[in-house]
Amino acid sequence: MSQDDAKRRAAEAALTHVHEGDVLGVGTGSTVNIFIDLLASRGPGIRAAVSSSEASTERLRSHRIAVTDLNEAGGLDCYIDGADEADPHLRLIKGGGGALTREKIVAEASRRFVCIVDESKCVRVLGAFPLPVEVIPMARSMVARKLVALGGRPVLREGVTTDNGNVILDVTGIDLTDPVAMERTLNQIPGIVTVGLFARRAADVLLVGSASGVDIRRPGDH
Ligand code: A5P
Repeated sequence: MSQDDAKRRAAEAALTHVHEGDVLGVGTGSTVNIFIDLLASRGPGIRAAVSSSEASTERLRSHRIAVTDLNEAGGLDCYIDGADEADPHLRLIKGGGGALTREKIVAEASRRFVCIVDESKCVRVLGAFPLPVEVIPMARSMVARKLVALGGRPVLREGVTTDNGNVILDVTGIDLTDPVAMERTLNQIPGIVTVGLFARRAADVLLVGSASGVDIRRPGDH
């Protein structure tokens, strides 16, 4: 089975978490793209979506799914999004697609966060995937030095400006054995807008697609 087929299985399983009339948070990436297409073709009729990126907004609108502003929507029933890595506690690395800031906002606004991945994203300890950190451009060098002092190796994502006009540093080598503590530490560095660690607000359900089906994981399962 291909990785795309596994993503499709996870995306299909996410449809059961969506209900008629929901205001739905919708994330970004290739797995979510599959989810959006499935939602349009055979999902329940949602009231509206709040999207985490311009790319997802465009895709939702191409299917005539209403997209609304988070300030208009208020609290969201559910958030469906992918991840770059997930650990057994459902803590995540996100931001490979560069949409981490809006994703974190939408996750925070949602009652439930359903994360959809293929099995290649599941790890024991986060950190093989470089940690995306969104940074205000004027603070780039200063933040990079702080990241080095914390044991990281930051690399500027060349040619990328986020939807919020910022840059992204992809950081390898930083110790993520306690991701909640590291998220807190990094959040305190001026100039960092968002850290792609979703540890304090982890997923509530992880749907893992693979050749053998879909594994449904919850934080207490490990
Ligand atoms: C977007 O910024 C990321 O957080 C995505 O959720 C992540 O990169 C997953 O993307 P794929 O579904 O394409 O693997």
